[in-house]
Amino acid sequence: MREKSHERCFSIADLRELARRRIPHAVFDYIDGGAEDEITLTNNRRAFDRYQLNASALVDVSQIDLSTTVLGEKISMPLLLSPTAMTRLFHHEGEIAVVKAAQQAGIIYTLSSMSTTSIEDIAESSNTPKWFQIYVWRDRDLLKNFFKRCKETGYRALCLTVDLPVHGNRERDLKNGLTIPPRISPKLLLDLFRHPYWTYHFLQNDAMQLANVADHGLASQKQFILKDYIDSQFDPAVTWEDAIWMVEQWDGPFVIKGISHSEDAKRAVEIGANAIVVSNHGGRQLDHAPGTLEVLEDIVANVGSKIEILIDGGFRRGTDIIKAIALGAKACMIGRPYLYGLCAGGKEGVDRTLQIYQEELYRNMQLIGCRTISEIDSRILKKTTELAAIK
Ligand SMILES: Cc1cc2nc3c(=O)[nH]c(=O)nc-3n(C[C@H](O)[C@H](O)[C@H](O)COP(=O)(O)O)c2cc1C
Repeated sequence: MREKSHERCFSIADLRELARRRIPHAVFDYIDGGAEDEITLTNNRRAFDRYQLNASALVDVSQIDLSTTVLGEKISMPLLLSPTAMTRLFHHEGEIAVVKAAQQAGIIYTLSSMSTTSIEDIAESSNTPKWFQIYVWRDRDLLKNFFKRCKETGYRALCLTVDLPVHGNRERDLKNGLTIPPRISPKLLLDLFRHPYWTYHFLQNDAMQLANVADHGLASQKQFILKDYIDSQFDPAVTWEDAIWMVEQWDGPFVIKGISHSEDAKRAVEIGANAIVVSNHGGRQLDHAPGTLEVLEDIVANVGSKIEILIDGGFRRGTDIIKAIALGAKACMIGRPYLYGLCAGGKEGVDRTLQIYQEELYRNMQLIGCRTISEIDSRILKKTTELAAIK
């Protein structure tokens, strides 16, 4: 039998390239792109080049333990899946494929409130620990209803995203005229002919919806622009007072995602959050924000002993994860990389993504001479002022 091509992918960059070939251009751009000039997107990657790794010689590295805990939950490696909206647009297996891959790998999955599979269907399809990501709708009853549904179906934590008061300016999507579901234009038609596998399944499967809010506002229309939905439904007046209200209403482990400086990290501690995710939404919101790894050190110095710190944005290698842990992160999260895997090969493609991180982490910990996650600390890092050339 001919080897499936995602099995011939040896890095996240390979999976990205395969994803690019497998799905329509406008859909790939929606995943891959960032805001405006994509400076933040680039900054996320460049930040890793500021740190080099020091290896210790002659350490017995015959056994490596990658496991760790996040909010008291044991996970097989320090990696979690960040929430991503619209996942069925990328591959018909959608969020279900992703949560099943998370279960197989023994890690935590975060379901987006803008998902295309419902809270309940995801809960039923796997028993891996799950978090639910929330945006702040103007309609607070809708939020309360989300909390109730998540409690009833066993989601372990609520993850409030705070870096999207309004939708970022993603010009690739504007140029491509991306609607949900995609409007068939002459340009798209050509693209669809070039991607018969994606097109067949897209036409064959149930119409795609924002599954948790399908009867709400613009989402109930046959076709809409995501930015218009967000700008009409989300509340740009949200403050820390609302976050306090959510902590009380949820009454369980609470995570704040989208923190990018230490003053906000301190506020998160004050209001009783249990973890923060240092994140700039993968460079999809504010352009010209620093790379997340660049701000991590300061945040750890200010709140590291008081709250668990996670981070996402540009993590593409096992060595990236090692660098963040050495700087004090408890674990890292990924968005695009598992979507590349999904586009490349459905659930098996996501499995391949997670396998690549697992293998890279394992091998590089052997090469550095760290046998457990707790042995990774700042001694293995050398900070450089010179930036390596951008790839
Ligand atoms: C296609 C796509 C959709 C996303 N949707 C959401 C979302 O619904 N909620 C959210 O908090 N973050 C969302 N994000 C941001 C991710 O959770 C994460 O912060 C980001 O992707 C991390 O950067 P990385 O893609 O470089 O790993 C999305 C990212 C992508 C690429």
